[in-house]
Amino acid sequence: MGIYSFSFSPTGTSAKIVRGIGEGVSQALDADVNFCDLTHHIAEGAEFRSDDIVIVAAPVYGGKIAPIVKQRLKGISGNGAKCIVVAVYGNRAFESAVTDFASFMSGCGFLVCGAAAFVGEHSYSASDTPIAPGRPDRQDMADAKAFGEVIASRIRIGGLCEVSASLLTDEASPAESMVNFRNFVIGYQQRQAANPIAYIPEIDASLCDDCGCCYAVCPTEAISPDRREADAAKCIKCCACVKICPQGARVFHSPFAKALSENFGLRKSPKWVIC
Ligand SMILES: Cc1cc2nc3c(=O)[nH]c(=O)nc-3n(C[C@H](O)[C@H](O)[C@H](O)COP(=O)(O)O)c2cc1C
Repeated sequence: MGIYSFSFSPTGTSAKIVRGIGEGVSQALDADVNFCDLTHHIAEGAEFRSDDIVIVAAPVYGGKIAPIVKQRLKGISGNGAKCIVVAVYGNRAFESAVTDFASFMSGCGFLVCGAAAFVGEHSYSASDTPIAPGRPDRQDMADAKAFGEVIASRIRIGGLCEVSASLLTDEASPAESMVNFRNFVIGYQQRQAANPIAYIPEIDASLCDDCGCCYAVCPTEAISPDRREADAAKCIKCCACVKICPQGARVFHSPFAKALSENFGLRKSPKWVIC
């Protein structure tokens, strides 16, 4: 039996969570957990065995699992291996992301035995529009480890079996926040319909010192080697380039940041189901 963990994680929060879960499993079982980062790699062709355990984490984009994750995982074969899916979201909502992720992994031949939703700092969080800043924090990491220990206890007794990911539902936000955000989204969609704007991270050339971090960290190679251009068709707005830039030269003026910050400030907690 092998225990593996994967993440696609442009701004690092999904990777932190899956490593925390892996640490809990590893310490409880005194076994190695092999970690693989899919942010810049494709897992194509990876084959598992029915006695393997795979923990896979990825961010929520627009209430679904980030579409690029499915490209990164395309072609992997579970062959009945047991899988735990982990969606990491920015304290707004994970909506159908967990069920979407579970059914994708199931379609790749995995038996989905656990599902979780954890909170990570929102990709659009900035100092003037904080959205779950600093998360996963100490409490989240303790929870991740605790979830890993629960997984380990199931492995130890040979009890992992198929679970319905739909048992995991979003923590409710205050009704007023939901209405405010919904109204914001409707207004945004109307403005976009009338006058479409392609929002992507911009560069302030006066601050850029050509260190190349943004180019190196971009998971979709959307940034030109000279760092000057970003290809809107390739950019997934993950904000890896913004968060990595030591000069603050990369900025993303997300139209959503203010509305998210104003309406989703109440802390949400990790949730999981396991069978
Ligand atoms: C394009 C995009 C869409 C997002 N959609 C959601 C969402 O629907 N709900 C939510 O709570 N967070 C959303 N987020 C925030 C991310 O899920 C969150 O920041 C996550 O921790 C990022 O994971 P990473 O650090 O592994 O990249 C979105 C982020 C991006 C870039």
